[in-house]
Amino acid sequence: MLLCRYPVGTLCAAVLWLASPQLASAQPGKPVSFINDVAPILKENCFACHDTKKKSGKYDMTSYEKIRAGGANGDPVTPGKPETSEFHSLIVTADQRRMPPRDKGEAVPKDKAGVIAQWIKDGAKLDAGLDPKADLVKELRVRWKPPVPPAKYPFAIIVNALAFTPDNKQLVVGGHHELTIWDVATAKLVKRVYTRAERAYGIAFLPDGKLAVAGGRPGQEGDVRVYNIAAKGKDEGGVEVLDGVNDKAVLVKHLFDVEDSVLCLAITPDGKTLAAGGCDRAVRVFDLSAGLDKAALMQTVENHADWVLGCGISADGKYLVTAGRDKTAKVWDLKEKQSIVTFPEHQNIVYGVTVKADGSAGFSVGADRQLRTWKPNGEGKQVRNAAGHGDEVFKIAYNPKQPMLATSSADKTVRLWNADTLAAGKTLSGLTDYVYTVAFSPDGELVAGGSYDGSVAVWKVSDGTTVKAFNASPGIVTKEPDPKKK
Ligand code: HEC
Repeated sequence: MLLCRYPVGTLCAAVLWLASPQLASAQPGKPVSFINDVAPILKENCFACHDTKKKSGKYDMTSYEKIRAGGANGDPVTPGKPETSEFHSLIVTADQRRMPPRDKGEAVPKDKAGVIAQWIKDGAKLDAGLDPKADLVKELRVRWKPPVPPAKYPFAIIVNALAFTPDNKQLVVGGHHELTIWDVATAKLVKRVYTRAERAYGIAFLPDGKLAVAGGRPGQEGDVRVYNIAAKGKDEGGVEVLDGVNDKAVLVKHLFDVEDSVLCLAITPDGKTLAAGGCDRAVRVFDLSAGLDKAALMQTVENHADWVLGCGISADGKYLVTAGRDKTAKVWDLKEKQSIVTFPEHQNIVYGVTVKADGSAGFSVGADRQLRTWKPNGEGKQVRNAAGHGDEVFKIAYNPKQPMLATSSADKTVRLWNADTLAAGKTLSGLTDYVYTVAFSPDGELVAGGSYDGSVAVWKVSDGTTVKAFNASPGIVTKEPDPKKK
């Protein structure tokens, strides 16, 4: 389960949400569709070796045209004859030479091999309207439809991101294909905003109250979309439901999408610059100064050798700070469009990063359990570090009203720190699992943490008292013991 304990593990989705109706399979009586029925099977069982990069056996299968062109031995499909088509016979054969190769993977399940057989029997046709050259991975992504989140979750879902609303009164929490919005004073669910993304990893408000969300479906797709959560929804049992998938009044901007999760998001306080990065190692930086409609991609910063796990921008939009799975924190000058400094001191995964608004100090946290501070325009040397957390530290946030930091950790706590001296402040307890995310309220008076087991706690910054603690998975009232967890 180690992978699943990792905050952005790609395998967790399947483990955690068994009910997800993902895989297409042919229905009896209906003709087999290449794109809807066959292509998902190929993606699952063949593309690992037969994609544009690997081309095992000189065979690239990522478009219909390429499938039919075949590899070293030509077209492996004889329409009408599955028995004599290597495309089918190689996957059901009892011989040593099988696909996937015996030493490399499991056999294709019988029912799926049957779908391929039927498709060949029916003439190995391409769906009407589909370009034979179309990239199948992209076609599958575009056609994929997100499920409607259940009214009540069968089990709690990890909280990877949360943010207070501009009035400090509500919390927006990442759910399963949705954002859930909770009233802090009562811990009541007041609104749900359905999203295409399965998970939200970064949530931030623009100055006009629109909500930017970075997220994705692990290993499949990632995106940044902007929602108007003040739009009108439907009332469902006292909860307002907004359709952020289809309703254009709710989903007001689709900034970009990529082929794996977008894991972090940062916006300058003036709302003019937005940065988002993730599994493709890139941070995309948008200029929003002419408004959302005219949002323009300014730069794509590829400065890390592995996933970008955290990002922040100084208020003037000059310094972009990033945290990487490559064990470094980095600073990029957005004005000069160049790398300024690499901070290597963590020597382990850097999960979270932030920068003081005036750009005079950067802060990072990671698997080494340390909070470290450094100068964004310095030499990459540490100014100071602070220990205290008893386990990996995942996220860091800067209080918008005073020099105070909050960090969240696998040790089940949130800690407050003096941002100037790194002197330890209060340790905030009450959560009972890994705390993946932390956020201050805009007035700086509250801090919230979100946890692996779906629970969320809100504390008062002034005295560390708990304002509210609740599970943010709709329908999960009490904490259930997690069977996946040791
Ligand atoms: C783990 C890697 C791997 C996977 C997964 C895999 N293959 Fe292959 N495939 C190979 C290699 C290596 C060859 C070349 C050696 C050979 O032909 O036996 C090959 C060759 C082939 C060929 C012959 C191409 C030619 O013209 O010689 C076909 C057809 C084929 N694969 C189909 C499939 C199908 C269909 C799947 C999915 C159900 C699949 N393969 C999954 C590694 C893989």
